[in-house]
Amino acid sequence: MTQALVVRPVGGPMNGVPAVPGSKSQTNRALLCAALAEGTSRLSGVLFADDTAAMLEAVMSLGCDVRIDRHNASLEVTGIGGALNFEELTIDCRSSGTTSRFLLPVLLAGKGKVVLDGSEQLRSRPFGEQMQALRSLGGTLNELGGSDELPIEIIASGLEGGKIKISAANSSQFVSGLMLAAPLFEGGLTVELTDTPVSRPYLDLTIEVMKKFGVVVEEDGDSVYRITEGQYSSTDMMIEPDASAASYFFAASAITQGNIRVKGLHRNSWQGDIQFVDVLEELGAQVTWGPDWIEVQGDRLSGGTFDLGNFSDTAQTLAAVAAFAESEVEIKGIGFIRAKETDRIRAIVTELMKCGVEAIEMSDGLIIKPNTWRLTGASIDTYDDHRMAMSMALLGLRVPRIEIRNSACVSKTFPDFFSVLEDLRPRAAPSTDVVGVAAIDGPAGSGKSTVARALAAELNLPHFDTGAMYRAVAVAAFRQELEFSDASAIAELAKTAEISIGEKIIVDGVDATDEIRSAEVSQLVSVVAANREVRRILVPLQRQWATELGGGVMEGRDIGTQVFPDAVFKVFLTADLPIRAERRFRETEGQTFEDVLKDLQRRDHVDSTRDDSPLEVAPGAVIFDTSNMAIEDVVGELAEMFRSRVEG
Ligand code: DC
Repeated sequence: MTQALVVRPVGGPMNGVPAVPGSKSQTNRALLCAALAEGTSRLSGVLFADDTAAMLEAVMSLGCDVRIDRHNASLEVTGIGGALNFEELTIDCRSSGTTSRFLLPVLLAGKGKVVLDGSEQLRSRPFGEQMQALRSLGGTLNELGGSDELPIEIIASGLEGGKIKISAANSSQFVSGLMLAAPLFEGGLTVELTDTPVSRPYLDLTIEVMKKFGVVVEEDGDSVYRITEGQYSSTDMMIEPDASAASYFFAASAITQGNIRVKGLHRNSWQGDIQFVDVLEELGAQVTWGPDWIEVQGDRLSGGTFDLGNFSDTAQTLAAVAAFAESEVEIKGIGFIRAKETDRIRAIVTELMKCGVEAIEMSDGLIIKPNTWRLTGASIDTYDDHRMAMSMALLGLRVPRIEIRNSACVSKTFPDFFSVLEDLRPRAAPSTDVVGVAAIDGPAGSGKSTVARALAAELNLPHFDTGAMYRAVAVAAFRQELEFSDASAIAELAKTAEISIGEKIIVDGVDATDEIRSAEVSQLVSVVAANREVRRILVPLQRQWATELGGGVMEGRDIGTQVFPDAVFKVFLTADLPIRAERRFRETEGQTFEDVLKDLQRRDHVDSTRDDSPLEVAPGAVIFDTSNMAIEDVVGELAEMFRSRVEG
C-alpha cells in the first residue's frame, strides 16, 4: 500500500471516453435497500471498490444472498425482507463512511448485538450527531473506543420511530442513514433538519433510491422528511457512472485542452457532483450536455469564486484545476470536508504548495493564486485519501515529476483510476498532424536554448531558434544606428534586412553569430520583440521555416501560444529566478550577478507584460521546472515524453 506512482505528463490534449465506474453513493444505497427488501433485485453498473465491498460484506454477513458478476458490473441481491436478526456479530466497515453511517441506524432497528467497526481512519471520523439522534429514540449504543467514535456496540431490539431533529451541517450521511433505516422503525420516522444541510443532493439521492425500492418518503418544505413504516421491495436498478470520479476526467480535459466525454451522465442525473462541470464552464471550458453523456472541451481557464457546499467531493479536483487557471480561484462552503478521510482543506493546500502553487487555507475553503511559471514536481502525500491521489495526479498531466505516494489508496472508490487515466494518454502521428513541431517556450535562463538544441539532436529533428531572428533584427538596427524607440523604422528593417539563420547567423551578408549574443543586443532585443509590426513579419516566417522542413524543435516565447498553437508537443521551461540569473551570470562577462539578476527581471517583465504575444504558458503545455536539474536529465525526460506522444 505504499507504492508511489509518477504520473508522466501527456504533452498534448487528452481525448476520449473513459470507463468511469459506477456511483459509489448509488451503489451503497441501492445495495442496502436491496438487502432489506423482500425478493431479488438486480443492480447493474455497480461499483466494485473498497467502499462498496464494505457494504457488500456487511449485508452478506446479515444474511443476504448476493450473486456477484464483476465482469458485467452487476449484482443480484436476495434481500432479507425485514428479518433483521443477528447474533454476536462484528461488521468491519473498512474506511467507508456511507457503510458505517447507513448501517448504524439500520442495525438498531433489528434484533441482536453487533459491533460496528472500521479502519483507523474511519475510527477517527465523527458519529456524534447520528448517535445522539438514535439515542433520543431510545437506541442503545455503547462506544467501545473513543467517545462518538467507532467501534460502537449496538444492542438492538427494534426501535420506535417518531420525530427527530438533526443537523446535517457536518455530514449529510447521518441523515441519509436515518432515512434509510426509517421504514424499519415502528411508526416510521419524521426527520427535521435544524439547519441547512451540506451536500443536499445526497439527501435527494437517498430519497430517490428509497422510492425506487418502494418506500414512501414525503417531503415537507426542504427541511422535513416523513418516512412511513414499511417494507422495501425488490427492483432492478441501473447505477449511473460516478459523477465524482468523472470529475477527474472532465478536469483532465480542461487542463490539457482536450475533449473528454463521459457516458451515462446527463442534466437530470441523480448525483449532485455533475455540477462540477458548470464550474468548469464558468472557468472557460466548453461543456456539451448530451441526452446520455457530458462532454468537456478544454480552453483557457480564468478564475472565480465557487461555493462547493453541495458537491464538495469535487473540491480537490477544482483546486488542482485552479493551479492552471489564469487568475485567482476561491473555493468556499466546504469547511465540513475537514472531517472526511482527512482534513481535505489542509491536505490539498499543503500538497499544492509543495508543487509551487500559492494556496491559502480558509476556515471554510481555500484560495488558489495560480502562477503557472512556478509549478514544479513534488512527492505528494495522499493521507490515505483517494481524492487526494486522484486530484493531485491531475497536476502530473502537465508537470513532470509529480509522484503520488500510496497511489493504491484510490482503491477506496476507483481501483482502476490510473489505468483509465493512462488509456486517455494522447498519441499523435506526426504525419497526420499539422506539423510535427515540439514547441519550447520559457523565460531567459530557463535552459531553453540548450535544451531545445540538445532535444533536437536527440530526436534527430531540425532546431529552430526564433529568438535569434529577433536578435538578428536588433543587430541590423545597431548597425544602421536606428533608434530602438522608432517602432516603424525597426519594423521596416525586419522586412528588408536579409537574415539567414543556420549554423551561422548572417545579417545582410555579414556573420553576426557572436554579435547577436552581445550584451547590447541582449539588452535591447526585448524592445524589438515587443514591436507588434516586427512580430507580424517574423511569425509567418517562423511558420514557413518549420513547415518547409517538416517540423522540428522550435524554441521561443510564443511558439505554443502563437506560432504553432497546434504543435504536437508543447513545453514551457521554467526555473527559479536566482537560478536562471546564476546560469546567465556564468555565461556572461563583465557584469555583476546583481546586474544579471536585475536584467532578467526586467526582461521577464517586458516579455510577459507586452501587449502582443506576451510570454505565457501555452494552454495544455507541459510545465517543466529545470531549477535543480541537469540539462541531460531534462532533455532525456522531454525526449521520452515526445516519443511517447508521437510514437505511442
Ligand atoms: O530566447 P532569446 O533570449 O534569444 O530571445 C531574444 C528576445 O526575443 C527576447 O527578448 C525574447 C524575444 N523572443 C520573442 O519575443 N519571441 C520569440 N519567439 C523568441 C524570442
